[in-house]
Amino acid sequence: MTNEEYLLFRSLIYNESGMYFKDTKKEFMESKIIKRLKANNIRSIYRYYKHLISESEGKREFLVLIDTLRIGETSFFRNRPQFDLFREKILPEVIEEKKKAVCKAVKIWSAGCSTGEEPYTIAMECYEAVEKNYRRGLTPPLLEIIGSDISFSALKTAKAGIYSKERIEEVEEKYLMKYFNVEDGSYAVSEQIRRCTVFDFHNLKNENGLREIDIIFCRNVMIYFDLAEQKRLIDKFYASLKPGGYLFIGHSETLQGLDDRFKFTYFNKGTAYKRI
Ligand SMILES: C[S@@+](CC[C@H](N)C(=O)[O-])C[C@H]1O[C@@H](n2cnc3c(N)ncnc32)[C@H](O)[C@@H]1O
Repeated sequence: MTNEEYLLFRSLIYNESGMYFKDTKKEFMESKIIKRLKANNIRSIYRYYKHLISESEGKREFLVLIDTLRIGETSFFRNRPQFDLFREKILPEVIEEKKKAVCKAVKIWSAGCSTGEEPYTIAMECYEAVEKNYRRGLTPPLLEIIGSDISFSALKTAKAGIYSKERIEEVEEKYLMKYFNVEDGSYAVSEQIRRCTVFDFHNLKNENGLREIDIIFCRNVMIYFDLAEQKRLIDKFYASLKPGGYLFIGHSETLQGLDDRFKFTYFNKGTAYKRI
């Protein structure tokens, strides 16, 4: 792959998905492109590029290519201190507000949810917090958890909600008993968890139309975007969140220097940002 070709692909991927590949990623990208080129019976890298920018089929192939280039690493209860902050401080505050609110639903968005471990962890923690913060006799708030990603294959796994033993290693026994069913040696999330969780394709590069969201999780996604794209993304999250809503980002990500309309908040080692 020539440098010119690499630059063509890099800017196409950046323009369409926000993912920015550094110069050092050329070999990695080349190997993935060659695999896709062979799968499509296309003989040159440039022809594959032309195929990608063609109207209908190109769009589909572009998403397949993105799927091979993306990093989908995730796990249940990833960054536990953030989930402690979520369960112990933020959810009780949100639940308290819902007791007085007209709209009783707690709306949470896991943006860039990969294979579903994050939104399902959110759902489990929500049920735990509702159990603790709602007296018997009162109608608990509705839970609406949306998981979105650019990867169709990740979303398929998320929707199935069935995980191997290795993937549930971080789930405590009490949560396993309460929120999973064992099926043929695999662990399926329970009906209760499924009922409050929906999954949908969404490219974070585009407008989302979501409004009045209580809490957004977008962790370990922004690191693949450059500064300009990160700013645009935070702008969109600002519009989607209700005033006083919370944003969780990854532990190696920050809003410092990006946006001052959020207040940094923490509990022990867990951190989040509150929309002012
Ligand atoms: C490293 S995973 C993080 C998963 C989860 N949030 C976590 O922290 O465990 C990053 C995810 O972001 C998704 N992603 C990358 N660019 C995206 C975009 N433009 N729109 C939506 N999702 C995107 C990838 O497909 C991948 O599943």
